[in-house]
Amino acid sequence: MKLGVCYYPEHWDESKWREDAQNMVSLGISLVRIGEFAWARCEPEPGQYDWEWLDRSIDILQEYKLDVILGTPTATPPNWLIQKHPEVLAKDEMGRPRKFGSRRHYCFSSHTYQEYSHQIVSAMAERYGKHPAVVAWQVDNEFGCHDTVRSYSEAAKQGFQNWCRNKYQSVEELNKSWGNVFWSMDYPDFDCIDLPNLTTTEANPSHQLDFFRFSSDQVVKYSNMQVELIRKHAPERDVLHNYMGNFTQYDQFKLGKTLDVATWDSYPLGFLLEGDASQELKDKYFRTGHPDNTALNHDMYRAVGKGRMWVMEQQPGPVNWAPHNASPLDGMVKLWSWEAFAHGAEVVSFFRWRQAPFAQEQFHAALNLPNGKPSSVWPEVETLKSQMDLLKDYDISSKCDVAMVFDYESDWALRIVKHGESYNPHSWFFDMYKTIRQLGVNVEIVTKDCDLSSYKSVVIPNLIHGSPELMERLDQFDGKVLVGPRSGSKTSSLTIPEQLAPGNFQALIPLSVQKVESMPLSIQVPCSIKGKTYNCSRWREWIDTDLTAKYSSDDGVGIFYEHKNISYLSACLNDDGLKVILKDFLEDSGLNTNDQKHGLRLKETKDLVFAFNYGPEKTKIESQVDFLVGAQELNPGDVSIWKRN
Ligand code: GAL
Repeated sequence: MKLGVCYYPEHWDESKWREDAQNMVSLGISLVRIGEFAWARCEPEPGQYDWEWLDRSIDILQEYKLDVILGTPTATPPNWLIQKHPEVLAKDEMGRPRKFGSRRHYCFSSHTYQEYSHQIVSAMAERYGKHPAVVAWQVDNEFGCHDTVRSYSEAAKQGFQNWCRNKYQSVEELNKSWGNVFWSMDYPDFDCIDLPNLTTTEANPSHQLDFFRFSSDQVVKYSNMQVELIRKHAPERDVLHNYMGNFTQYDQFKLGKTLDVATWDSYPLGFLLEGDASQELKDKYFRTGHPDNTALNHDMYRAVGKGRMWVMEQQPGPVNWAPHNASPLDGMVKLWSWEAFAHGAEVVSFFRWRQAPFAQEQFHAALNLPNGKPSSVWPEVETLKSQMDLLKDYDISSKCDVAMVFDYESDWALRIVKHGESYNPHSWFFDMYKTIRQLGVNVEIVTKDCDLSSYKSVVIPNLIHGSPELMERLDQFDGKVLVGPRSGSKTSSLTIPEQLAPGNFQALIPLSVQKVESMPLSIQVPCSIKGKTYNCSRWREWIDTDLTAKYSSDDGVGIFYEHKNISYLSACLNDDGLKVILKDFLEDSGLNTNDQKHGLRLKETKDLVFAFNYGPEKTKIESQVDFLVGAQELNPGDVSIWKRN
């Protein structure tokens, strides 16, 4: 467990650097991320490098025994590059260039940009690769931030045509796979294929899905180019990227394959207001963030990082970019940090050291005020550090018995063919995740290719296409499997499978979907589960089967079916109904459930149990235990920690 901070030496007069390093040490910080936006300072003119300032700043950090994470500065191409090569700019869906004047204005498909990136990353990695203070490298910054995965530039168009050529080999094959006979959309040649934007009405979904796949591959390719250079010059250093919370626009499992650690940027208050929680929940958790969303991201990025995860940017106070920017409740910064460690984070690093008095993020709080004095969060971080020292010898790795399958392509496909506005694939995944967690059960998020044998149960919320190979693995799986609505509903080219939905899942459970319906949230369909009435909304299916539905809606449509160890849920149930189904499912899998009260969440690890109160009510731990941190009673924002029996 280590603390870190994001620092921008180039923002401050050099006379402050030494004192900054000293203060970092006195706060218990041991890692400092720098450099990720400093291209214009490192290469003020094409090919003219200025490394001296960066040398001096790293030297000072090293003097104070601070380890450095060096970021490659490619998220911010400097003005000279744009003047010389305006064609590197990405284009938005309306075909407009994303202009210079902020960041991430480049197109992943631009060969020119790839070459310039190659040069700056090589130069940086050659210079600092073996520097003893530089222990890790961050590739770029938040790929995809500000909606930048998909670019509609000329370079992207050519790249996409080649990608299609490679995938389909013949244009006839592509036409067949996309169903281009519909509306006379057949292409005579790969060179005639355009990007799926600015069409009169919606573009062909198969075309869109392939474009999303291509765009994701471009991000991965671009990142891998940098990773390769860094590995060549910086042996034995961790190479990592800082992903964003709740972000699904490219395949982060694929990107993570060549990296050592998945780090992610945690802004719980902004995420809550930007997400689609009800206004009631947004108000309730305004100063704490959603009690399950941060955990979801920890679990997601532990999977992306193949077990290794850090928080690279932890919100230390109000941010500047959400619809409203609350001040976290006292104690939350400590709580979020403990929650990260309890979910396996090796490092929690705060964004940022000192609040910037200029440019875009003036309202973004930091550990220090713009005048250099500590901000009000400082005592909380000091307490956190002393608690970390107290607990440093305990094993807080955790065992998860439930695997939830997440799949990026399914997420894209379900957004492309979402059918109803209130169905959001990520929100439905989150509904299932948070319900399991509210039942006190640890979740591991896994890919569809992963080995499932060590889990007691597997939950597949919405895998739109499952391969026959996955069906075989599930068939051999001893535990219980829950398959959610819309699973198996399309082929990999986003067409209806011959055997109808749930496609290949029919090898596991004999039923087929005859009709589907999407609904706004204002339409609620009552259904009875174990003698009580709940509602489903958003989505439901009519099933043809010889199985008897275990539960049905009051208007006679089955919503839940079981066959051997496989269950199929054919409607989106609201939270309370989903909880009844999942509770039974988990208990039938041999797991103990423990329904959490209000905003209280527990996380069991090998040696310790953590309790987090996301409030807003006071709450109590039921069991009698000896607390290492905190107490039986938790105020909103409190953390209690005790030894596991
Ligand atoms: C992140 C980004 C940082 C900073 C921060 C503000 O998305 O990586 O550079 O902008 O947000 O909250």
